[in-house]
Amino acid sequence: MCAMSTSAERAAIEVFWELHRGLTKQGPGSDASTRRALSLVPELPRAPEILDLGCGPGRQTLALARETGGRVTAVDRIPPFLSQLRESARIAGVEKRIQIFEGDMADLPYPDESFDLLWSEGAIYNIGFGHGLKTWRRLLRPGCAVAVSEATWLTDRPAKSVRRFWATHYPEMQSVEANERSARAAGYRLLGSFVLPESEWWDDYYTPIEARIRSLREHRDNENWTAALDIHEEEIRVIRDCRGSFGYVFFVLQKPRAIGSG
Ligand SMILES: C[S@@+](CC[C@H](N)C(=O)[O-])C[C@H]1O[C@@H](n2cnc3c(N)ncnc32)[C@H](O)[C@@H]1O
Repeated sequence: MCAMSTSAERAAIEVFWELHRGLTKQGPGSDASTRRALSLVPELPRAPEILDLGCGPGRQTLALARETGGRVTAVDRIPPFLSQLRESARIAGVEKRIQIFEGDMADLPYPDESFDLLWSEGAIYNIGFGHGLKTWRRLLRPGCAVAVSEATWLTDRPAKSVRRFWATHYPEMQSVEANERSARAAGYRLLGSFVLPESEWWDDYYTPIEARIRSLREHRDNENWTAALDIHEEEIRVIRDCRGSFGYVFFVLQKPRAIGSG
């Protein structure tokens, strides 16, 4: 029994890596949305200090370095993603402006008010939207912004199958309004928000993963692999069938200056 569950778990990890290895995005998003969120951020210093939390392979890390001329500290806990980022930064010629840190985004060693901008695409759900915003706030200088993208309900009447899927995979998912309330409760004011275009779920993420699922089914006939592939395929089916009932929303938020500080 024990051995069976171990080999099933091992298969789940192997399948995850087969499906995600080498992708430049590990969730919905695009350089265009990174730039759009950046356009909502108040003016930055000439060479801002930026913290990218849950950077993954760091496509947005590179975009931030390019667009701002600043220094980006990129944090993730998965070493292969960080190696991929290191290599892409070298190829893009921005490696000197990217500081890579392997660690837990919920427990970072940086002093208070070290950063001019916090960024996190598709990663805050790992520690909870409200909790993450509260935990990170001390790192931000007053008057500066945090930009986060988060899976969010876009309807209050989702189909049963969608509700069931997210009840298993992300029961804490909230509506836009509830996320905005959580952000205010965490001590921010809203500068702007927008829903990521649906194409950004597909172009660099689910479409390549779906192709890999097809290819793995052809080449690996193994019960545990099949079960793991079924889970990924179900996720894609739900995403496709339930367009419009949830989406990724970018929230750009500001840590207010203390009253009377000018
Ligand atoms: C959905 S991926 C998004 C990656 C990247 N931001 C992107 O959009 O391509 C979420 C990332 O969060 C990272 N992550 C999850 N929990 C973490 C934690 N506690 N500390 C640091 N990174 C974490 C994962 O390793 C993964 O790279």
